[in-house]
Amino acid sequence: MTKVKIGLIGAGRMGSFHGTTAAKRLDNAELVAIADPFKPNAERLANELGVSKVYENPKDLLADEEVEAVIIATPARTHSSWVIAAAEAGKGIFCEKPMAVTAQEAEDAIAAVAKAGVQLQIGFNRRFVDDFTQAGKEIRENRIGEPQLLRSLTRDPGLNNAEKIPEWTIFLETLIHDFDTLNFLNPNADPVSVYASADALIRPDLKDNGLLDTAVVTIKYSNGAIATAEANFQAVYGYDVRGEVFGTEGMLSLGNIRMNSMVRYTKDGISHDTSRQDTDLLFNAYVTEMNQFANCVRYDTTPTPSGNDAKKALAIALACIESVKTGAVAPVIL
Ligand SMILES: NC(=O)c1ccc[n+]([C@@H]2O[C@H](COP(=O)([O-])OP(=O)(O)OC[C@H]3O[C@@H](n4cnc5c(N)ncnc54)[C@H](O)[C@@H]3O)[C@@H](O)[C@H]2O)c1
Repeated sequence: MTKVKIGLIGAGRMGSFHGTTAAKRLDNAELVAIADPFKPNAERLANELGVSKVYENPKDLLADEEVEAVIIATPARTHSSWVIAAAEAGKGIFCEKPMAVTAQEAEDAIAAVAKAGVQLQIGFNRRFVDDFTQAGKEIRENRIGEPQLLRSLTRDPGLNNAEKIPEWTIFLETLIHDFDTLNFLNPNADPVSVYASADALIRPDLKDNGLLDTAVVTIKYSNGAIATAEANFQAVYGYDVRGEVFGTEGMLSLGNIRMNSMVRYTKDGISHDTSRQDTDLLFNAYVTEMNQFANCVRYDTTPTPSGNDAKKALAIALACIESVKTGAVAPVIL
């Protein structure tokens, strides 16, 4: 197959990782252009990867006819407008999560993609972690019966630049992974209601500024299943992503925080290494999702996680915000 010519919008931390994947880690893609309104970011990455086209304005990248598909790795609140602009330009779209931060934005993005008939894949990389992929398959094959209890958790290793974290990030950008995971692991049901409890336990001094760094969410699903999602921004022992599905015929336990299978035995006891970065612990998942995206663009097939998956996870996040504001159970409006 001919390689899919990809343009990257947003050359920060995640964009640099995805851009490197498109340029160096895949056989089915190549990176032909990079755009970032903070041009030094785009130039640095372009130099590193040998990419000749650098744009300050992402609209110029979208007007570039060589670019077949784009990766959107910009700040969350800009995603939906770049999805719409990319769809109107006829490009295949890989968009980092969240696709949108309001229900209206999500609908507008989905409508623009449908109208243009382009591919849209959302960066819910957890679906591409081996354990989670396998669990999704086994649940669909009814290997553990009907899901009754589900759990998903995300613990980031360190809270940096806490002052700059936008309000509600814990739901809109962190737990959104867990919400999509839970939806994926409970495929024959819809989320109905949530109760969310959240606080600033790591930086209580920033609570009045709107920081929430710790949260637990209970979600009720239409098949009766009850799920919990939890997050914390400072797991001192390393990046931690796990899940569990308990069904009528058994249980699946997912996720492993170990970097490798080496076990260290010393006078201090037994230990193993953990990851300090999501891109280390979930490296393969990030590469696999991009490989799937390039295949979908090349062979004109429909990727998942889709815009509708993004909208469903967002609906849970928005209900969490409502629940924290009111202190009560909030309906999930799909
Ligand atoms: N899937 C995951 O596990 C995962 C992990 C980390 C981050 N993310 C997501 O990736 C996205 C980017 O996060 P990051 O950590 O790379 O952020 P970042 O701040 O490191 O990078 C963002 C980049 O976007 C550029 N930018 C700012 N405004 C822009 C605009 N209006 N249009 C185009 N570009 C703009 C910035 O100059 C910067 O280079 C976020 O949505 C985040 O939620 C996903």
